[in-house]
Amino acid sequence: PRVAVIVVAAGSGTRLDAGAPKAFVGLDEHTILRHALRNVFDGPAAQVVVVAPAGYEGDALTDADEAAGDRRDLVSVVTGGATRQESVAAGLAALWGDVELVLIHDAARALMPSAVFARVVDMLDTGVAAVLPVLPVVDTIKRVADDRVVGTVDRSELSAAQTPQGFWRRILENAYTNAQDEYTDDAALVAASGHAVTTVVGAEAGFKITTPADLARARGLVAPIAP
Ligand code: CTP
Ligand code: MG
Repeated sequence: PRVAVIVVAAGSGTRLDAGAPKAFVGLDEHTILRHALRNVFDGPAAQVVVVAPAGYEGDALTDADEAAGDRRDLVSVVTGGATRQESVAAGLAALWGDVELVLIHDAARALMPSAVFARVVDMLDTGVAAVLPVLPVVDTIKRVADDRVVGTVDRSELSAAQTPQGFWRRILENAYTNAQDEYTDDAALVAASGHAVTTVVGAEAGFKITTPADLARARGLVAPIAP
């Protein structure tokens, strides 16, 4: 296929602290990963690479096969690394030859609607190099040093970054090959390689499950998966 989605699920979930790697924590009777993959498979047809923690490859494949249904041949599972960046690199190494567009998605954004995946692909198809879903920042943001407010940041110029982040494959692969530092997201890594990043509107439902409070919120919002 033309589009691949790499779902990074290899983190340990230190801040969630739920007794298992975060992607394998349950939202209902299904895991965070299973819910994330439901939305991936509802989006643009794609090769789907799940990046799993060492020792959880079998569990990841079970979730992926179930989410894929009759599209199981589109799925592969690879083992992640110590950092998110290493996990993405492991996913990139598993791409098939004909893939042209790559979306990188956090499994922890379990409820990101499939419409956002489509929006990212549509924007890439206009010819831009890189696409980032964003939301406006709702809080007033202060710059603080030594417990003192040293300034208010103009909120109108801030956006919160989400995933899936989308790239033309060659640009993303070159940026990863040449990356010298650790970056907090793929858009920053690609921007550092000299490419413009274009934004599209993300979705509030696609918040990242990071803390126990986020998990409770996701459990309250989740729609059941049909048997
Ligand atoms: N991730 C990954 N490999 C890593 C670290 C993170 O694939 N070595 C993935 C996570 O599984 C998650 C996404 O990157 O889907 C965003 O990371 P984060 O929310 O920070 O997840 P964790 O690193 O698992 O959480 P924590 O930082 O609290 O340990
Ligand atoms: Mg982390």
